[in-house]
Amino acid sequence: MVCFTKVLSASLAIFLLRLSMPPSEPFVFSPLSLNTLLAIVHDGANGVTQSELTNLLLNGCTPSDVTEFYSSFTLSLPSTNATGVTLSSANRFYVDDSMKLRYDYKTHIQRYFAAQILRTNLRNKSEAARNMSKFVEEATHGKIRNLIKDADISDDALGILINAVYFLGKWKFPFDHSGTHERTFKGANGGRKISFMSEYASFRVNQKTDLGTVLIVPYQDSNYSFFYLMPSESSDLGTMMSHLTGKTLIYALRAATDFVIRITVPKIKLESQLDVKPLLSNLGVRRIFENDAELSKISRVPLTISKIKHSALIEMDEEGTEAVASTYMKVQMKVISASIKPNPVILIDRPFLFGVLRNEDIIFIGQFT
Ligand SMILES: *[C@@H]1O[C@H](CO)[C@@H](O)[C@H](O)[C@H]1NC(C)=O
Ligand SMILES: *[C@@H]1O[C@H](CO)[C@@H](O)[C@H](O)[C@H]1NC(C)=O
Ligand SMILES: *[C@@H]1O[C@H](CO)[C@@H](O)[C@H](O)[C@H]1NC(C)=O
Ligand SMILES: *[C@@H]1O[C@H](CO)[C@@H](O)[C@H](O)[C@H]1NC(C)=O
Repeated sequence: MVCFTKVLSASLAIFLLRLSMPPSEPFVFSPLSLNTLLAIVHDGANGVTQSELTNLLLNGCTPSDVTEFYSSFTLSLPSTNATGVTLSSANRFYVDDSMKLRYDYKTHIQRYFAAQILRTNLRNKSEAARNMSKFVEEATHGKIRNLIKDADISDDALGILINAVYFLGKWKFPFDHSGTHERTFKGANGGRKISFMSEYASFRVNQKTDLGTVLIVPYQDSNYSFFYLMPSESSDLGTMMSHLTGKTLIYALRAATDFVIRITVPKIKLESQLDVKPLLSNLGVRRIFENDAELSKISRVPLTISKIKHSALIEMDEEGTEAVASTYMKVQMKVISASIKPNPVILIDRPFLFGVLRNEDIIFIGQFT
């Protein structure tokens, strides 16, 4: 069977966004951060626990497709920022002194996910929380602080698995500061004045899709871009999102072609937190949270996952975009008891879907409302 990883992972990003937040509320998250962490657990799972994760991460594909897809993403990240884009994804597994990881699992996650494994004393909650938060703070260049608090480390915690993603991209055509002005954004909850940036240059546009207007703004490294998808005036974000699939999104992006036009887009600054556990339960991933979780490839100690939290932030200005995300997962002992020519001017002033792409892979996705 052919496994269409790009379409499947784009669909997952859309599902997660749709389930996380109603279309009237602004939101951002990094599918790359969350899914990498889930893939690391997937590779330590078997039975129903693993198949639920395989179906979530790449529905219809095999467990080794999941490993290959998410591993290649992590391992292919550039180590330099010579091209005007920095993208890094760091994985760490803090393992309590009382637990040993199985040798095969340890070498697997080091090799396929470049994971660092650190021993820690999780009983010293304040120091462990401080150490882990410091790692996230450094990996996100100071943007996410105090991610893990003492109270997040319960008495039965045996390990904390963390991913941190950092993206900094400079626009290929920086916006001229003199073109930045306040104007009205016709938000989901009424109009409000915000800053808009404007630029006349070459952008990829698709206005031939029923979805609305696709606008793709390139970064200096042509492998990366920022996309806007604004529903047509007769529709709205909620209606569009309820019909959107990975396939329609990818095809709409692919159909965009170059035009020299003036674009006017809002400056964005967004920060979101997400409790992932209820979301995954809604998407059919339940066993990892239960007492019969099959995670014996990770350790001899019977394990279950008790918490998954995600934080993300995106900031866009005239020069470029900076976006960060971090996800952590608490591993604990089981509870023993229990082509038309586009309009020459594109103005993005109504609620829209956006994302940061590496080629066709969605690194960040969100909605601005
Ligand atoms: C590239 O790295 C240098 C040194 O770490 C940093 O000063 C600069 O802002 C980075 N540029 C980009 C586009 O990431
Ligand atoms: C915190 O990090 C320091 C320095 O790396 C280390 O010596 C210490 O053991 C760590 N503490 C815990 C609780 O992991
Ligand atoms: C936790 O670590 C701190 C800093 O190293 C130390 O002062 C404190 O005694 C430790 N607490 C426990 C309960 O081990
Ligand atoms: C795009 O990515 C490929 C593969 O990672 C790399 O070889 C190429 O240099 C990148 N393109 C640019 C413009 O940096």
